[in-house]
Amino acid sequence: MIFTVAIDGPAAAGKGTIGRALAARFGFRHLDTGLLYRAVGAKGGDPVAAAEGLVPSDLERDDLRSLAAGQAASKVAVIPEVRAALVDFQRRFARAEGGAVLDGRDIGTVICPEAEVKLYVTASAEVRAHRRWLEVGGDQSLVLAEVRERDARDMGRADAPLRAAADAVVLDTSEMTVEAAVARAIAVVEQTLEGRG
Ligand code: C5P
Repeated sequence: MIFTVAIDGPAAAGKGTIGRALAARFGFRHLDTGLLYRAVGAKGGDPVAAAEGLVPSDLERDDLRSLAAGQAASKVAVIPEVRAALVDFQRRFARAEGGAVLDGRDIGTVICPEAEVKLYVTASAEVRAHRRWLEVGGDQSLVLAEVRERDARDMGRADAPLRAAADAVVLDTSEMTVEAAVARAIAVVEQTLEGRG
């Protein structure tokens, strides 16, 4: 079965948690596409060469989750040649046999517009910054500034800007528990699978 769940949305909205939960529930593979951009940003040097030469071990660096790596990722992510170098891998992952969940910024709009399920997971900047701060600590107002800066760059870029696909189900998790958000996402996927018979 070829079945793609595309999850897009801004930083710290809950895409990863929902993506992992859906993959576990339905036995699908899961790709956190933000890691690709984080790995390119962390490699340093020429970002286009870094993207073209990306290998699986680059995704295993233990510094990829930091705020600095997120900023570096969103800076290299505006470069069209960097994005182009990462398209084929993501498309193959999305459409390989067995079902796949991909989370990112442009999965339902650019990487896999034919995805069977599209979710746009969002939350207010304040809620997302608070969640990120609980993970990374430090000065909460700096974390909020970082979230806002990355939102502006991701939504404002010319190539593959962050936006909800016209046919995406929008899930605002600002006032939802993790359990409620996951349950809602599972219900959307189940409905689509049932509709296919
Ligand atoms: O999702 P995550 O916070 O790890 O993504 C880091 C950055 O990578 C994002 O802020 C965005 O600029 C970029 N990205 C992207 N397209 C994706 C996934 C991530 O441009 N599909």
